[in-house]
Amino acid sequence: MIAAYSATSQARVNAALETLFIAPSPELARLYEAMRYSVMNGGKRVRPLLAYAACEALGGKAEQANGAACAVELIHAYSLVHDDLPAMDDDDLRRGQPTTHKKFDEACAILAGDGLQSLAFSALLDPRLSTSDAEIRLQMVSALALAAGPAGMVGGQAIDLGSVGLKLDQKALEYMHRHKTGALIEVSVKLGALASGRAEKDELKSLQTYAQAIGLAFQVQDDILDVESDTETLGKRQGADIARDKPTYPALLGLDAAKAYALELRDQALHALRPFDAAAEPLRDLARYIVDRRS
Ligand code: IPE
Ligand code: IPE
Ligand code: MG
Ligand code: MG
Ligand code: MG
Repeated sequence: MIAAYSATSQARVNAALETLFIAPSPELARLYEAMRYSVMNGGKRVRPLLAYAACEALGGKAEQANGAACAVELIHAYSLVHDDLPAMDDDDLRRGQPTTHKKFDEACAILAGDGLQSLAFSALLDPRLSTSDAEIRLQMVSALALAAGPAGMVGGQAIDLGSVGLKLDQKALEYMHRHKTGALIEVSVKLGALASGRAEKDELKSLQTYAQAIGLAFQVQDDILDVESDTETLGKRQGADIARDKPTYPALLGLDAAKAYALELRDQALHALRPFDAAAEPLRDLARYIVDRRS
């Protein structure tokens, strides 16, 4: 079920994303090529899937969330390009291919990331991608800016880089994870819900509880896979956190306790979806997938 849902949703978001990388002039061909390379290089598309699934859970059609789905993937791709830079995690491999700064150069990777971030907001406002009214679009732009910015993902990345070699306690680690990874996952669900045009306050609250739990679970599982997967399966270097002495859940709690915590978070997420009917099944499947995934 999740495999079929993923394949359909990935094809949908990839087709929409592909329209965004047409260079307006030949001088910009390399920059656009670097942006395209950073986005159209595989990736599980978990955040777009969440946006589509949230839209459908509220009775919307998945296509209504195309703008939201593109926007969250563009922010995610930008964050990975910058995360891999020598000044940050200094990684050479991403999605099984050379990282953007390796394929192009560092300046080009920085600019490609900057460009992708702006494109994300353009995507939310693009009438070709969605038909949401102006009020909804404003709510979406505001929510994405908050989640991606210094009070969200960028803040989490700052804490991550400031914590290398330090021993964070569980509260501090959770704060970091909820920001660097959780914030964008949370807003993916929110934007999808808003795109349905039918989101009621109490439904948004339940979806937020769901999204916060899977957002944290996603990074706990990412930390677990760094320990027990392999580079080939991951498409990025296994053991990179250990090599860099990054604060992670397995490092703090041990592998078994980290796994138990991921499952507990999944159950919290499923619990939050109790008020929803069968239309929320893809969201339920995604919660299970996030802690079962091997890459
Ligand atoms: C990796 O994200 C970075 C984190 C926030 C943990 P994903 O595991 O979603 O990476 P892709 O998009 O599938 O490559
Ligand atoms: C990345 O976290 C989080 C963001 C890019 C915002 P990681 O540094 O753990 O991601 P990977 O393991 O390189 O994919
Ligand atoms: Mg990092
Ligand atoms: Mg990294
Ligand atoms: Mg990681």
